[in-house]
Amino acid sequence: MKVKKAVIPAAGLGTRFLPATKAMAKEMLPIVDKPTIQFIVEEALASGIEDILIVTGKAKRPIEDHFDANFELESNLREKNKTDLLKLVEETTDVNLHFIRQSHPKGLGHAVLQAKAFVGNEPFVVMLGDDIMEDTIPLSKQLMNDYDDTHASTIAVMKVPHEETSKYGIINPEAEVSNGLYNVNNFVEKPTPEEAPSDLAIIGRYLLTPEIFHVLESQEPGAGGEIQLTDAIDTLNKTQRVFAREFTGKRYDVGDKFGFMKTSIEYGLVHPEVKDNLRDYIIALGAELAKEDTAEKK
Ligand code: G1P
Repeated sequence: MKVKKAVIPAAGLGTRFLPATKAMAKEMLPIVDKPTIQFIVEEALASGIEDILIVTGKAKRPIEDHFDANFELESNLREKNKTDLLKLVEETTDVNLHFIRQSHPKGLGHAVLQAKAFVGNEPFVVMLGDDIMEDTIPLSKQLMNDYDDTHASTIAVMKVPHEETSKYGIINPEAEVSNGLYNVNNFVEKPTPEEAPSDLAIIGRYLLTPEIFHVLESQEPGAGGEIQLTDAIDTLNKTQRVFAREFTGKRYDVGDKFGFMKTSIEYGLVHPEVKDNLRDYIIALGAELAKEDTAEKK
């Protein structure tokens, strides 16, 4: 069966970006000039996804507005002949988006469960907004290609520094069955480095069969008292094979302050409007900081 649907959980409270996220969805924080959630939606569309469900919570109305038409703004831009800007504003509205609210933030597993009726009895993709992925083939599409071969759930993973395992779901790989595709013994949510069975971390792209919903319906809270998607995947893996696909492209972690800043700089350095000025600025700033460092060491 062809994978046509994606679910984007966006109901988190965004506490890592307070106070910016007190009244604003963290998914609307821009990298240069594009909200992070737009990168995710663009990856879905580039992968051939036809319908997207965004699971939202409080303060998420701006996400709905962002992907809707804004007639006032559009006619204003048209009157002023700002065709480039008009194109940017209009291209976010041509998407088959659906919204559902998660009334209580009970965890990622619970957020995904809200998509049960939307997904029905089809395989689907889950895309988390904290990671922007770049590769010649979009990561979601890579998982969809795997599904075409295996007809099984496949979770994207990537090597992370060993001391960071407690930030992620970690897999215990059994064997590499083909290039970069692993059989998995088990999945563990946020293990300490001592407990972690490997350094292969779940990075926010999942291709799941609909059987995951049966598991999620009776899933007990796990790490952090939350209903964890990783725990449900571990249970699913006991009745049907769940694979892990190692991602070798570039990952930008925008769910963390430092990662967000690095991403803004790297995207700024390729943005036609600011790249030259930003480059000059960074070079000058680097020289100044290096001077300060040498002065301090003396
Ligand atoms: C979630 C998942 C975790 C995964 C991570 C990737 O954690 O629970 O398994 O590794 O996303 O970003 P969160 O970052 O929401 O705490």
